[in-house]
Amino acid sequence: MTDSLEKLKSVVESYLATHLGKDVDQETLAQSMEYSTLAGGKRLRPTLTLATVELLGGELSDDVIRASCALELLHTYSLIHDDLPAMDNDDLRRGEPTNHRKFGAGMATLAGDGLLTLAFQWVTGNGLPADVKADLALELAKAAGPAGMVAGQARDIEGEGQKLSLDALRYLHRQKTGALLHYALLAGGIITKQPAEVKDLLTQFGDAYGLAFQIYDDLMDVLSTAEEMGKKVGKDAGEEKNTYPGLLGVEGAKAELHQALDAAKTSQSQLAEITGQSFDAFDDFLAYFKL
Ligand code: IPE
Ligand code: IPE
Ligand code: MG
Ligand code: MG
Ligand code: MG
Repeated sequence: MTDSLEKLKSVVESYLATHLGKDVDQETLAQSMEYSTLAGGKRLRPTLTLATVELLGGELSDDVIRASCALELLHTYSLIHDDLPAMDNDDLRRGEPTNHRKFGAGMATLAGDGLLTLAFQWVTGNGLPADVKADLALELAKAAGPAGMVAGQARDIEGEGQKLSLDALRYLHRQKTGALLHYALLAGGIITKQPAEVKDLLTQFGDAYGLAFQIYDDLMDVLSTAEEMGKKVGKDAGEEKNTYPGLLGVEGAKAELHQALDAAKTSQSQLAEITGQSFDAFDDFLAYFKL
């Protein structure tokens, strides 16, 4: 990880550690929300927003950091609910027992509910201009909710045991994982008040990156280890999940991953062209994919 990415990650870590507990008024709920949120994680989504803000000349004020960290709360909720017995039924996450293993399914469900709701509190409860906050809240709702991530999760569980076409699987991946990454980039454009053409290119990068990210996650379920991933691997096939390697084999999935990464790089170059600024800092995020 480069120094600049490490720096942004530590901004996120320290904001979460300092502020999350303050906004929760029940002890076990606070412990449960902090347990999963502060367990680590790559912090890719908020650091993508912060990197985008920096690239576009914005300042990383406390308000910007609060609004950006909201996405990490929301993402962590999605992981807690994804791991529940009624969903993927996982016992390891971010290198620790899953939230429901530690606190029970009821409290884990509430920790997720709390993180989802608190995300909207952080995105709107800050000193950014009212139009910026309204736009962030609307876009976050669209990305995370029943038109985005939640719809993807619904496709994912309904698709278990059925074989989806490549087009249907790509759509599923764009929703369940791509939507939040789309928002991560868009948020950087909203905060710095970019024109529509810049926001479009940012979201094109986010969409391509998001698709690549879930293809890579599917591949790592086959190729990696629990130690490396901090979660159990080799589970997707047993759960009859629709995945890229399941449908196309490892080599086919890698080819699709490279295609998505090429699309991301094209958007990255177009962003540099249209803004007249270097977007080389996005290379740090593309370096996550090791194949
Ligand atoms: C895991 O996301 C869920 C997927 C979308 C594949 P991350 O791989 O970003 O998980 P953390 O935040 O680093 O734990
Ligand atoms: C992504 O899919 C899940 C979310 C949108 C939370 P997975 O179910 O493959 O994620 P992991 O592998 O459990 O992290
Ligand atoms: Mg899942
Ligand atoms: Mg899962
Ligand atoms: Mg997975």
